[in-house]
Amino acid sequence: MIYLNGAFMPVEQATVSVLDRGFIFGDGVYEVIPVYSRRAFRLEEHLARLQHSLDCIQLPNPHDLSEWINIVNEVIARNGKNDQYLYLHVTRGAAKRDHAFPNPPVRPTVFVMSNPLTHPPAELLESGIDCITVSDNRWLRCDIKAISLLPNVLLRQAAVDAGCAEAILIRDDSFLTEGAASNIFVVKNGILLAPPKDHLMLPGITYDVILELAETNAIPHEVRRIDKAEVFDADELLMTSSTKEVLAITTLDNKPVGNGKPGMMFTRLYQLYQDFKRDVMRK
Ligand code: PDD
Repeated sequence: MIYLNGAFMPVEQATVSVLDRGFIFGDGVYEVIPVYSRRAFRLEEHLARLQHSLDCIQLPNPHDLSEWINIVNEVIARNGKNDQYLYLHVTRGAAKRDHAFPNPPVRPTVFVMSNPLTHPPAELLESGIDCITVSDNRWLRCDIKAISLLPNVLLRQAAVDAGCAEAILIRDDSFLTEGAASNIFVVKNGILLAPPKDHLMLPGITYDVILELAETNAIPHEVRRIDKAEVFDADELLMTSSTKEVLAITTLDNKPVGNGKPGMMFTRLYQLYQDFKRDVMRK
């Protein structure tokens, strides 16, 4: 069951206009929210990031916080699994094709769906994932969670074509930004390094959880620009996202990262993340 513009219906019955600006221009924003034991994880943080994205594209939020919470909880309730991931999508609505915003504005399209959340299998946690590095050729507003994802799609496909799980993005042949659909952390000499949240990367909700866990557990960490050379010289590399949580990256461009196995920082943060999730869900 999905939610579309005020109604719940089976996904097969859901339709939007071919003139929807999401379809025509990619003019919209989205969120992906994990749900554990039927509770949306970090919901208010995800809705705050949605507000940021909407503000950046000058689209008034069609719902206040309590309306969003009701929609989200209703979608969770109408879908079978205890663990789900929600996809929230807001576009500028359907209007005659013109690049400039419709004037007067039209009703935004609001779509929410749920999919089963599959946890990374034990083998993947033990082996880690393979990644490639690619040039970050996206625009300069990567802090907006925009539905216009063609660059990310092509970058992720480049990884898949190389037999890898993710592409690590290097801006200006110089520094690390993030993954095609994830944030990336570097570990060197026991210090967890994270790129700063600026307009060149998505401010990840999982990224924030990882840095909070580092802070509360006295794990040395630094948030700063990370040179390309530091990525290649890392003891460990970690990838985070709402659907993948935290994974170790064990090969980069076909070469082992560190000793080629998930390291101590990964093991520690993975465990802390699982404990944190359980604590939050219990509360
Ligand atoms: N993507 N960076 C990019 C470009 C992303 O697309 C994502 C997540 C992240 C991680 O953010 P978070 O921890 O809030 O999930 C970073 C989602 C999962 C997606 O598009 O499916």
